[in-house]
Amino acid sequence: MCGIVGYIGPKSVDSVLLVGLTRLEYRGYDSAGVAVVHNGELQIRKERGKIKDLEELLQSHPVEGHMGIGHTRWATHGEPNRRNAHPHSDSKRRIAVAHNGIIENHYELREELKREGHVFQSDTDTEVIPHLVEEELKKGVDIEEAVYLAIRKLRGRYAFVLVYEGTPERIFFARDGSPLVFGSGKGETFLASDLPAIIPAAKEHYIIENEEWGWITRDRLHLFNGDRREKTVALEKITMDVKDLDKGGFEHFMLKEIFEQPGVLRRIIQERLGDNSGKVSISEKASEMQKLSRLSRIIITSAGTSWHAALVGKLYFERFAKISTEVDLSSEFRYRNPIAEGDTKVVAISQSGETADTIASIYEAKAKFLRVLSFVNNTSSTIARESDAFVDLLAGPEIGVASTKAYTAQLLNLLLYSAFLGGVKWILDKDERQQLFDEVRRLPDQMDQILERADVIKEWAKDFKETKDFVFLGRSFNHPTALEGALKLKEVSYIHASGYAGGEFKHGPIALITDQVPVVCIAPQGDIYEKMLSNIEEVRARKGIIISIHTEGDETVPSLSDYSFPIPACSEVLSPLLAVVPLQLLAYYVAVERGCEPDQPRNLAKSVTVE
Ligand code: F6R
Repeated sequence: MCGIVGYIGPKSVDSVLLVGLTRLEYRGYDSAGVAVVHNGELQIRKERGKIKDLEELLQSHPVEGHMGIGHTRWATHGEPNRRNAHPHSDSKRRIAVAHNGIIENHYELREELKREGHVFQSDTDTEVIPHLVEEELKKGVDIEEAVYLAIRKLRGRYAFVLVYEGTPERIFFARDGSPLVFGSGKGETFLASDLPAIIPAAKEHYIIENEEWGWITRDRLHLFNGDRREKTVALEKITMDVKDLDKGGFEHFMLKEIFEQPGVLRRIIQERLGDNSGKVSISEKASEMQKLSRLSRIIITSAGTSWHAALVGKLYFERFAKISTEVDLSSEFRYRNPIAEGDTKVVAISQSGETADTIASIYEAKAKFLRVLSFVNNTSSTIARESDAFVDLLAGPEIGVASTKAYTAQLLNLLLYSAFLGGVKWILDKDERQQLFDEVRRLPDQMDQILERADVIKEWAKDFKETKDFVFLGRSFNHPTALEGALKLKEVSYIHASGYAGGEFKHGPIALITDQVPVVCIAPQGDIYEKMLSNIEEVRARKGIIISIHTEGDETVPSLSDYSFPIPACSEVLSPLLAVVPLQLLAYYVAVERGCEPDQPRNLAKSVTVE
């Protein structure tokens, strides 16, 4: 939610900021702007809309210079228009700030500042920051002191970058809650919400911690803690590859990432099962054996697609490790005041590692002295660092706003971790594990087979261009698949879609069915097969349009369906990994048919860093 970037160096600052902002556009695309200081003069350009709109503005109204900040916005306070676009400035337009997060006490600060004569130009919480700094400067302190004193007045979650006309070649920053990273290249330095914004030019990085603040110059980071003590900085080499950040010939990141899934599964299998010993290799910290053998309860906390993975994870933990598992939406976790008894572990699942609600639930768990294990794709994220241990999802950077490859990576890592726990607790013996792993090893090729038939779903999509409502039904391991299929479709195509457990269907949702409503029935072979057949019959009897996902070779389900798509035979526990792929493709192709932009759906941002 909102991306910020700062640059000092020999290159033209506008081009560096535009590249950085484009790479951060997944964090929000309501408006964008830059502020540049050149020859002691502050220049600000901002525009409603996407980075390409800002780029056009910069062509007609160029800025010049080698130091500046930029912002891409996901609106929290104030409409997404040019007036509310960042960077925001003080009354005299000498200070500019780009901010990610929420300043919770902005109303009271704004009132205080207004009483001192400050005039505000926007409806944003951010604007109090430059005014606060201006107010301190008025009292005669220098800029370092003014920034420090301003930070001490802020409450909330934030990361901001600030430039001031009076200090060429210095960008100030502070972090408390929202991500910020420093990058160092050849004679140039960067600040950004995320590493992709600054590679490959930045070669080394430092992740700014909460309550740290300071400034960058062209050659280094000056870092301070909350008591104004300067800290020494140990830079780490950046290993991220810029190749992972382009579309690789695909029209959209979402499609590229759907097609990357077999490769992601191969990578996870290689990493976790590579030595063929029948054991799962999990990072040392995540596998403290002694304590795990006593583990009796797991609470999983996550949001959105990661929550759907958690619902499958619960079934895995209970099936393979016989550990009683609860699943919470991270935004709800704290409200129920979870009971911390017995040997309980909290598992947090997050692609970005920056979801504010999930972070808040980790703090809640830690306040109750519960140990936290996270499954994260971004291993330098807040969630990875705030957890006692983490498992790397190994999905590679996911840029499309709708999560696809991170989901299947979450499922496989949860499955393997539950099998690992099953081994530690003597629930699964070696042969049972080996049998499961043999099946797991077949998954990437099976997924390839599904993707080879993607054009079938592309054709179907034409029939659903004007559809208003979709229903998704699944049971047991594929109840979460139904929820995920519905979420994917609604977020990228804006068609209303709901997922239900097959058994719940007749308790209300069946009233939705008419001959205009497609019902996606996930009906692979397994324990729930016959029950899903009953669901299909119920829909048929009411003339609903049946789209089925079934096991290859099954003739019954296709004979009852209007549209049917086979997935390779696999055990029911693994079927969520395969069954979700045609649903991701359906969401993508329907969105494209309807002229939607699947990589940047309206109102959404990839990293939800506000609660
Ligand atoms: C949906 C989607 C979101 C995220 C959710 C949690 O396609 O991407 O629902 O799953 O915002 O994000 P993470 O996993 O980053 O915590």
